[in-house]
Amino acid sequence: MSNITIFGAGNIGSAVAGLAVKSGANVQVIDRNPDKAAAAAEGVTGSKFGEPITGDIVVLALPFPAYEDVLATYAGQLAGRTVVDPSNPIDFTTFNLALPEGSQSAAEYLAAKLPDSTIVKAFNTTFAATLASGETDGAPTVVQLAADDADAKNAVKTFIEDAGLKTVDAGALKRAQYLEGYGALQIILGVTEQTPWTAGFKVVK
Ligand SMILES: NC(=O)c1ccc[n+]([C@@H]2O[C@H](COP(=O)([O-])OP(=O)(O)OC[C@H]3O[C@@H](n4cnc5c(N)ncnc54)[C@H](OP(=O)(O)O)[C@@H]3O)[C@@H](O)[C@H]2O)c1
Repeated sequence: MSNITIFGAGNIGSAVAGLAVKSGANVQVIDRNPDKAAAAAEGVTGSKFGEPITGDIVVLALPFPAYEDVLATYAGQLAGRTVVDPSNPIDFTTFNLALPEGSQSAAEYLAAKLPDSTIVKAFNTTFAATLASGETDGAPTVVQLAADDADAKNAVKTFIEDAGLKTVDAGALKRAQYLEGYGALQIILGVTEQTPWTAGFKVVK
């Protein structure tokens, strides 16, 4: 049985926690509010921010700027683990990507900050509603993945597919640059009310 830790009990954290439980994993949710963490999905163990990580796969379901706080507290514990980045690092005043100087994507920034962890980009191109329901316009929701490490990517793919969703492989971690543009486009369509927050791009095979 796999062990998955999710930071954040918001929209994406709760949706991914539900998928992780459905996949059969042991699931820990860490939030600044431990009660909110415990309520993220039925069957999870809630922990307060600062408590030890129990998962081999760790999903950072937090706004990109909050990653600094996770790095400050948990960088040592994240070594040797697979760290999943679902962030869309957007400046909501301009809708441009808002990345630290010199970074091409949030995922590559994270990889540079956590050289002893394995980074997987996932969940940033699907709104939380389509992850939680597992469905996009009547078909299984498709999660797009990017990572340099095949084993780590496969572990994330396996838990998503065990929860009943589908995945596609965008390639190496640097393809997160495209996935983050794709995520930004989806948000722009939502904010301009051309698509509802329950919608999403559909990958048709
Ligand atoms: N919502 C979507 O449909 C969607 C889709 C794709 C990708 N994403 C990405 O997923 C990530 C999470 O988005 P969301 O919509 O789930 O956000 P959200 O609902 O606002 O939840 C954010 C979570 O982050 C926690 N948090 C915020 N600042 C923190 C800090 N400094 N230290 C520790 N915890 C902190 C909050 O904890 P508290 O309870 O303590 O405030 C909350 O649990 C973002 O990077 C977003 O770009 C979202």
